[in-house]
Amino acid sequence: MKAIRIHEFGGTEVLKLEDASMPVPAADEILVKIFASGVNPVDAAIRQGGNDVLRPFLKLPLILGCDAAGIVEAIGTEVTSFKKGDEVFGCPKFPGNGSYAEYVAAKASQFALKPESLSFNEAAAVPLTALVAWAGLFELGNLQAGQRVLIQGASGGVGTFAVQLAKAKSASVIATASAGNLEFLRQIGADEVIDYKTHQIEDLLHGIDLVFDASPIRDNEHRLKSISVIRDRGTYVSVNVDFPFDEKVAQALAQRHITGEMVAGQNHEHLAEIAALIDEGKVKVFVSKVYPLAEAAQAQQEVATFHVRGKIVLEVQKEK
Ligand SMILES: NC(=O)c1ccc[n+]([C@@H]2O[C@H](COP(=O)([O-])OP(=O)(O)OC[C@H]3O[C@@H](n4cnc5c(N)ncnc54)[C@H](OP(=O)(O)O)[C@@H]3O)[C@@H](O)[C@H]2O)c1
Repeated sequence: MKAIRIHEFGGTEVLKLEDASMPVPAADEILVKIFASGVNPVDAAIRQGGNDVLRPFLKLPLILGCDAAGIVEAIGTEVTSFKKGDEVFGCPKFPGNGSYAEYVAAKASQFALKPESLSFNEAAAVPLTALVAWAGLFELGNLQAGQRVLIQGASGGVGTFAVQLAKAKSASVIATASAGNLEFLRQIGADEVIDYKTHQIEDLLHGIDLVFDASPIRDNEHRLKSISVIRDRGTYVSVNVDFPFDEKVAQALAQRHITGEMVAGQNHEHLAEIAALIDEGKVKVFVSKVYPLAEAAQAQQEVATFHVRGKIVLEVQKEK
């Protein structure tokens, strides 16, 4: 099968389109013929050697990619949740041999049935970022209907799902992005929007129940400003698990009894709920560009700007 694989860590030049052996599903795995793969900032981070969280798990050579949409080709002997021919989406094997490939064998529990209303290209844009948004808002953030949530980095992969999932929960959403994305944020449901380049949130907001920071900013001074707008006993959730809270952040949280959390890992059980919200029209998927598999390097370069609206997708093979 064709796959984008790395044999060393480095720049986009280490991405090689080559023939890799077909994976064979273990008893609890399914073999998925992949039509599309999402592209995420973490793919580039892994390509460059990972961070303190990922490094212990990275083994070369490695097929990148952590978002797959495709058709079940075969099932392991213990799998009862899927059958051959099912259309599925999920986060296979992260951070092992992943989805920049024509096939992947991964645990059946890492997949759900694909939303019927989506193409494979659209479905591949969903799993990782939607699960991170779900974890940040509901599992860690415990967001309730009527509460006020500030979502930072709201126009990106994680952020677009976070805004829509929070609205689906009937929360009041304040969203940040740069000027060119503010109207887009209103269209996807944000009640208030803030241009982070021209306005300081601490001048505008207070008493927020939950801040979900889905921006790429790895800076504890930025975190202190976010925490300052939260009510006492509220919650602060960051997506950047590779960048720990420093002493000052820990103190600011403790002084005001604010719970501080980091999103680490995905709970695949929520994929089916996310698929249902998509098919009900409550959550839309925004793919700003589709690249062919062979152009994975260009796709990763675009994602590394951290200014993609919604998602970038690799089309691995065309739907017949
Ligand atoms: N913990 C996990 O499991 C996990 C999983 C996935 C992602 N992540 C992390 O989550 C972060 C977001 O990922 P993503 O895929 O959603 O990224 P993305 O699609 O590139 O989105 C970036 C968002 O941040 C905004 N932004 C860019 N530069 C900014 C700045 N200097 N200040 C404030 N906002 C800024 C962008 O808005 P404009 O374009 O309007 O500037 C956009 O809304 C990344 O750091 C990623 O590594 C963590």
